[in-house]
Amino acid sequence: MSRTKLIAANWKMYKTPDQTRAFFADFLPLVSGHTRDEIVVCPPYVDLAAALEAVKGSNVGVGAQNLHWKDEGAFTGEISAQMLLALGITHVIVGHSERRQYFGETDDTVNLRLKAALEAGLTAICCVGEVLEEREAGLTEEVLRRQCVRAFHAISAKKAAKLVVAYEPVWAIGTGKTATPELAAEAHAVIRSEATEVFGEEFAAELRILYGGSVKPDNASALMSQEEIDGALVGGASLDPKSFAAIVKY
Ligand code: PGA
Repeated sequence: MSRTKLIAANWKMYKTPDQTRAFFADFLPLVSGHTRDEIVVCPPYVDLAAALEAVKGSNVGVGAQNLHWKDEGAFTGEISAQMLLALGITHVIVGHSERRQYFGETDDTVNLRLKAALEAGLTAICCVGEVLEEREAGLTEEVLRRQCVRAFHAISAKKAAKLVVAYEPVWAIGTGKTATPELAAEAHAVIRSEATEVFGEEFAAELRILYGGSVKPDNASALMSQEEIDGALVGGASLDPKSFAAIVKY
């Protein structure tokens, strides 16, 4: 099996355009020539142009953190797939737990965003993951299956070619608590089995499933050595060029 790992930075609401340029000035030399993994950085919308300019000709891609499902319209504050494409963006995060938790994102709107992203030809990183109470109540598998089945609703395997899933246990995000590699691998297996049911075995075997939640330079190797883990979605530790480069080079 040859799934190229994807190491993606999720900057959340951090950094200005100037800080973005400064990050890449330091980061790109640290990862130049690194071809083992795909590298993507997802800054806030206002930094996308600066990031694209900075990565030109490099081995690093740029993604957005969200998108709206309509091409255009009276949707104040929203950004469409077409707008991202016009800028040169190739990747987008969909359904991050912070969107679900603070901004009313539901399984249904995740599905709409995911469909729009994939139809536009963007690589969509669809986030799923249980909260602590769900894990403690033994509901992790059920929650992951529900989130996947609803996110993937009415999307064909053909359309889903650029789908990536990120397993992000909510209790591990920004808390310093990482799922053990074994725990993460177990959850990834559930997601892959759900993807098999929805899209078929061939598709599921190629699907990349990333782990996210307190990934740091010192735990990246153990996580990435799990056969089921096809990369990482990194928040806090991706803001510093040295630390993100160390993760890329796990
Ligand atoms: P963290 O965030 O690495 O800061 O835990 C991960 C994420 O939310 O994508």
